[in-house]
Amino acid sequence: MTEIRSFLISNNNGDEVCITNYGARIIQWYTEVAGEERNIVLGYSSLADYLEDPFYHGAIVGPFANRIKDAQVTIEGQLYPLDANEGYNHLHGGTHGLSQQFWQLEQQSEQSVTLSCAIANGHDGYPGAITFSVTYSLTDEGELTIALSAIAEQPTVVGLTSHPYFNLAGIENDADRHLLHVNAEYFTEVDEKLIPTGAILPVKDTHFDFQKPRTLTHVSRDVIDQNFVIHPGDKHHATLISPDKKLQLHVSSDMPGLQVYTADHLFGRFIPRQGICLEPQFFPNSPNVSDFPFSLTTPEHPYSANISYRLVKPHDKPSD
Ligand code: BGC
Repeated sequence: MTEIRSFLISNNNGDEVCITNYGARIIQWYTEVAGEERNIVLGYSSLADYLEDPFYHGAIVGPFANRIKDAQVTIEGQLYPLDANEGYNHLHGGTHGLSQQFWQLEQQSEQSVTLSCAIANGHDGYPGAITFSVTYSLTDEGELTIALSAIAEQPTVVGLTSHPYFNLAGIENDADRHLLHVNAEYFTEVDEKLIPTGAILPVKDTHFDFQKPRTLTHVSRDVIDQNFVIHPGDKHHATLISPDKKLQLHVSSDMPGLQVYTADHLFGRFIPRQGICLEPQFFPNSPNVSDFPFSLTTPEHPYSANISYRLVKPHDKPSD
């Protein structure tokens, strides 16, 4: 049986990110802010706890992240039923999604680690054998880059994301009063099961307007579990700022959507709203909505996507 392991990567400024082979998850990210160490990614103290985790803590989520309506896709005229693990719908790659798989170590250096994961044809219903790879690299500029790729033996649906719950105040603190900016003028409207209706609506005059940084509070309008349509052509997705304003997280990606989730369903080790997920990805259900940007992964067109989480400390003096 594969053992759960962890890999530490660090940069020359003392930042440390810990990754586990189970779900290729980010389980800790330590950085020094104004002379004090902060862990800014929610995680369990024991590796074994990840095996029971229902919240996708820190995971690479897929083969297709977010929801697929009625747990089915049609590819080249053929219908493929997928695992229905949220009522009638498919969420985050199904019961045996990539977050629940042991990934293999491919390469490790001080500042980077590469893991891979292969699934067989028909895994949770996905057509074609698919091999996934993720490389996490931590630069000396405080940027964690996540390079994602997949090759498939036949046309299939792939759309990954990264699912850490950030708390820039340090994970034991309340995440309330973070400031959030999202580079989106539009959002994808959803039904009561969080499946897009197909409509793309302006954020203006709604509680999804984060075009200027806005403080997230506990009031109900700030319960957010929503895909934003990132300004086309821009890689900058969002900026999250700690309540004390000493730490900023800049999120960028080549993906067209950003799921913002204020973690209102957390329980157990962490309480609701103790972290915030900022997940660059395709729009939910995009394999079934022809107007949404999406392309199949095929033997000729492998999947690739990049996510960057960059820390900025506006009050830190540059070193001599
Ligand atoms: C989704 C939430 C879901 C959560 C599960 C998020 O990415 O947007 O709806 O409950 O993942 O942890």
